Amino acid sequence: MNKDYSHKATNDEIKTRFDSDVERFSNLESGQQTTIDAPLTMELCTEAAKYINSTATELLDIGCGAGNYTLKMLNKIPNLNCTLNDLSLPMLTRAKARISAQTTGKITLIQDDMRNLDLPYNHFDIVLAAATFHHLRTDADWELVFTKIYQALKPGGSIWISDLIAHDSVLIDKLFQDQYGAYLKTLGGEAYKQKVLDYIEYEDTPRSVNYQLALLKKVGFTTTEILHKNACFAAFGAIK
Ligand SMILES: C[S@@+](CC[C@H](N)C(=O)[O-])C[C@H]1O[C@@H](n2cnc3c(N)ncnc32)[C@H](O)[C@@H]1O
Repeated sequence: MNKDYSHKATNDEIKTRFDSDVERFSNLESGQQTTIDAPLTMELCTEAAKYINSTATELLDIGCGAGNYTLKMLNKIPNLNCTLNDLSLPMLTRAKARISAQTTGKITLIQDDMRNLDLPYNHFDIVLAAATFHHLRTDADWELVFTKIYQALKPGGSIWISDLIAHDSVLIDKLFQDQYGAYLKTLGGEAYKQKVLDYIEYEDTPRSVNYQLALLKKVGFTTTEILHKNACFAAFGAIK
């Protein structure tokens, strides 16, 4: 499955783009517009986390952006200690400003590539990762990050993922890319559609739900769950 990723955006390029895109990721009501069903998947991931880990105290948000998922989680389980990870410092700064107004818990910021996360073992009750794993490239990257998350969760803890996804069949992948293109056109016309599809082509390397669920099981998770799928977006998770 490993391919040549040399033509893809570097981490520095990804970081620079997100450094100047904080505003777009700061709307708790809509989430990000380019994600189909963004408000629904944010609601489902945080509701699933609440049902599985209702007495949670420790939350980790990977690729947290401006903090939408953590804010939504705090609406359901107040005053969590929040560990926020992102490549982009402007994103983390905005996330901290928004989240510190909403929790009496401790806020810890980690500005780094998620591949470098050095997390305590058996520490977190809930991990959230929204619209961020699609930046991982090789099989080794994916397994490394999923393993780190598994080790960092307490037994019974859970991870909830909402993301752009690929499909294992080339033609089904094309079907849903075409559907996504039509969706983007309704948002902003042909030029906007092409702009979004071009940056996805350059920046992103999504994997299928099947791939991710199998990998979650491989690294040790006992239970996996699919919460939602619509075209090339899905929400799913796993329990340790
Ligand atoms: C599309 S935004 C989503 C933000 C937030 N999770 C949300 O749903 O509103 C993706 C975020 O992932 C971050 N990111 C991209 N690659 C990353 C990496 N390798 N490690 C950590 N964060 C990363 C970006 O800086 C950006 O803030």
